[in-house]
Amino acid sequence: MKKSYYCEKLEKTLHFLPEEIKFCCSCAEGLGIKIKDFSKVDKKEIIKVKNKYIKQLKNGVIPSQCFGCLELKEQKIQKESLFQKILKKKENKVVSHVIVDHYKQCDCSCIYCSQKILHPDVIQKYELLPIIEQLYDQKLLSKQDLVVEFQGGNISMLSEFDNLIKTFNSNECHEFRLLMNGIKYLPVLETISFNNSSFVSISLDSGTRETFCKIKNVDAFEQTIENIKKLEKRTDLRFSFKYILIKDVNDNKEEIEKFINVVKSFERLNNVIFDIDYRDTFMIPESTKKVPSYYKELFDYAEKLCNDNKIVFTISEYTKKILSDL
Ligand SMILES: C[S@@+](CC[C@H](N)C(=O)[O-])C[C@H]1O[C@@H](n2cnc3c(N)ncnc32)[C@H](O)[C@@H]1O
Ligand code: SF4
Ligand code: SF4
Repeated sequence: MKKSYYCEKLEKTLHFLPEEIKFCCSCAEGLGIKIKDFSKVDKKEIIKVKNKYIKQLKNGVIPSQCFGCLELKEQKIQKESLFQKILKKKENKVVSHVIVDHYKQCDCSCIYCSQKILHPDVIQKYELLPIIEQLYDQKLLSKQDLVVEFQGGNISMLSEFDNLIKTFNSNECHEFRLLMNGIKYLPVLETISFNNSSFVSISLDSGTRETFCKIKNVDAFEQTIENIKKLEKRTDLRFSFKYILIKDVNDNKEEIEKFINVVKSFERLNNVIFDIDYRDTFMIPESTKKVPSYYKELFDYAEKLCNDNKIVFTISEYTKKILSDL
């Protein structure tokens, strides 16, 4: 039987990058559309390109940009009624996941930061706010269930951050994922109405001031913890803490234990996310060979510590696969 595929991200996402808009964020290259002039982002063009790829997948053709992507799902070919076809066409026109990632400026300089490699030029090329306002006017963005994720760069360095988050919020968006380093306190977050699924993800990567300094190149470990404590007091946000294992820097049990001891003091701790430095995985060819075999033991150790402390331990499917191949 002929194969057919679908990808939920492709149907629902707009990922704003410095030079283009992608339709996902994944471990593969991803599909998207190059934009020559960001002052003229065209809803019709976006839908046309998205639908072209949706159709390709449905017909069993996997674009090279999707090779190896774990988001790709095989589906059974079902005969659709005319009503289902019309409904689907309508659904495809609404975006329910926006990733704000067009800015790469940051107030620290992590030794592992993949952005430096992917986007060495940190000059912001366009303002996103006018585009978002336009897309709301054109009814491309959902007013029922939009999720907005801020990646970057760091939001503390994005001058349009306050206006962007206020604009989403005033358009009935209440679910936010804020990826940040926490070095600077952001008072605007006290004014936003967040739903229960919103969270802040902080790339702490350490459990001590010394290791934090080594990784981030700024002496701001205590300040970061203080800022997150303040956010916990003054907002309803929940917190995820990230720990990227960096070779010969924080890839040891002692630092992981100290990290867990710090994050467990947060009452609204969502989860902790462990990952492997991308420079040892998908960013270089022959990648998995660079991941030391003792990482399996370290991940097991981190998981056990989390379980003992009733903390939700999270790793991505991609990372799980790398560990199982070691
Ligand atoms: C590029 S940062 C931007 C948001 C924010 N500045 C932060 O650090 O969370 C987004 C995420 O990418 C992760 N990241 C960056 N470089 C990475 C790498 N080489 N390997 C794994 N994760 C990486 C960071 O840990 C962070 O969680
Ligand atoms: S299959 Fe993967 S790479 Fe392709 S559009 Fe979906 S998420 Fe992106
Ligand atoms: S805080 Fe985030 S964006 Fe900034 S250097 Fe670190 S990983 Fe990169």
